[in-house]
Amino acid sequence: MTDQQHKTSVTVIGLGAMGQALAGAFLRAGHPTTIWNRTPGKGDDLVAAGATRAGTAAEAARASDLVVVCLYDYEVSRAVLGPVAADLAGRVLVNLTSDTPERSREAAAWAAEHGIAYLDGAILVPVTVIGTADALLFHSGPRAVYERHESTLKVLGGNTVYLGEDHGLAAVYDNALLDFFWTSMYGLVHAFALAGADGVKGAELAPYMSALLSIFPAAVESTAVEVDSGEYPGDQAPLVTEAANVDHVIHASVHRGLDVEALNGIKAVLDRAIARGQGADGWTAIIEAIRTPEARAH
Ligand SMILES: NC(=O)c1ccc[n+]([C@@H]2O[C@H](COP(=O)([O-])OP(=O)(O)OC[C@H]3O[C@@H](n4cnc5c(N)ncnc54)[C@H](OP(=O)(O)O)[C@@H]3O)[C@@H](O)[C@H]2O)c1
Repeated sequence: MTDQQHKTSVTVIGLGAMGQALAGAFLRAGHPTTIWNRTPGKGDDLVAAGATRAGTAAEAARASDLVVVCLYDYEVSRAVLGPVAADLAGRVLVNLTSDTPERSREAAAWAAEHGIAYLDGAILVPVTVIGTADALLFHSGPRAVYERHESTLKVLGGNTVYLGEDHGLAAVYDNALLDFFWTSMYGLVHAFALAGADGVKGAELAPYMSALLSIFPAAVESTAVEVDSGEYPGDQAPLVTEAANVDHVIHASVHRGLDVEALNGIKAVLDRAIARGQGADGWTAIIEAIRTPEARAH
């Protein structure tokens, strides 16, 4: 028996940068792999490596019991999968497209209506990390379906995590981590702009950014404890002091003609928290103001 004969056949629908990486990982692990993409001409390397190119999405869906989808968003995934629902019936569909929990749950309801076993997923790493031990991917949906295909799905990443039966969970974790990532990445670039306005090169500032990052693991842990307990000790750094620090950054940025919309948003949240009487609490106390944006009107 060859390696491919006892490995689950997989179809990958969507050959963007990520879909190609997924199909490549399945192929490298010896899974017979069928591929399809709306625009022809993508995936020639995959075909050269042994993938089968399906002529239509319906043909791709029928080619394997396990169908993995990775498209631009759920609107696109609806447009591609809707017309092939009958071809997917009785198979396992794993949607690794990123979007919101609501759209994942809608997709799960649609799949249930059509007799398709459905897992929702999210990919948390760039294409170059796919197929390695470090690749973080989330899955949610029926546990039995996940467990049946766990070893095949783990080909995509050693750090593949099953989160639970609620199909929206993968997107919940994905959105939360992206929230942290994008707001942090915005701050990173803004900081370079701020120092750069006074002639400081990126390379001159970078070592100190890295030093600052070393406090993040402990900050993540302690913030999680505070969020879960609802207690926000501020004895070392109360919100009123932190608000003054944010104000200094805003003033320096305005003085240099930089955009301050995001910083003003942070300052507005801090001001609302202080107005609620939380000025002596620590930074995590802003979660109350984040949870009640309607308080803005008051
Ligand atoms: N790239 C990454 O590093 C990365 C990391 C984590 C998560 N993700 C997620 O993975 C998903 C795919 O990302 P990607 O980087 O592969 O995106 P991409 O390179 O932009 O590919 C998008 C895919 O969607 C298809 N598509 C777009 N509009 C379509 C339509 N109207 N009808 C049919 N197909 C359509 C494209 O087909 P055509 O070739 O025909 O346009 C292509 O297959 C996204 O949800 C993304 O957030 C990506």
